[in-house]
Amino acid sequence: MTTPQFLQQQREHPEPEESGRPVPRLVLILIGGLLAWAMYYLYAHYTPMPSLVGDNRVAEDFTVAVSADGAQLYTANCVACHQANGNGLPGVFPPLANSEWVIARDPGVVTQIILHGVEGPLTVAGTTYSGIMPNFRDTFSDAEVAAVVNYLRTHFGNAATQTDAAHVAQVRAATEQRSTPWNGDEDLQPLLAQ
Ligand code: HEC
Repeated sequence: MTTPQFLQQQREHPEPEESGRPVPRLVLILIGGLLAWAMYYLYAHYTPMPSLVGDNRVAEDFTVAVSADGAQLYTANCVACHQANGNGLPGVFPPLANSEWVIARDPGVVTQIILHGVEGPLTVAGTTYSGIMPNFRDTFSDAEVAAVVNYLRTHFGNAATQTDAAHVAQVRAATEQRSTPWNGDEDLQPLLAQ
């Protein structure tokens, strides 16, 4: 590339003012002043934050004590067989509504049934069933058993006295050795008679 134009460009120096235009001194002074002021500001206003001031709440402060909900436990664990209205299924699953086992004077009877389950012929309101009622001794805490027992004894038209976790604990301790379900009427009638 040796066109005359190119040679001219090679020969020429840049315009002097283009490379030598300094930042105005006033602007530099202004920037320096701002930097100095910012550093002074940080230095003068810095307060170390003592941890006392922080949020000292721990995870436990946020947990709400939830009490066992009988209705919810019933829906989750019993409805499939005993149905939402507590009437069971004729000939297959016995009713809880007006069942002599549920409304027995001693709430310990139904507590035992829930803890250990039942197998073998069981008569409920005049009809004999022979199904399998699962046990809940490992699934439910004492408070949860109490909540379910109270739910059964005060719903589906039932109106019987209530129990509490302490009573469930006693009932549980009394049959701690038991690892098999109650054998229907044979095992449970004596409890009802007590
Ligand atoms: C898999 C089905 C099934 C589930 C789930 C079930 N049961 Fe039962 N339940 C039965 C059967 C079947 C019997 C009768 C057992 C027999 O014939 O020996 C029974 C009997 C009972 C009895 C005594 C008889 C009566 O009708 O009063 C009670 C009380 C009872 N169940 C309560 C409950 C509660 C409370 C739950 C939930 C925590 C529950 N059952 C979950 C099937 C079930």
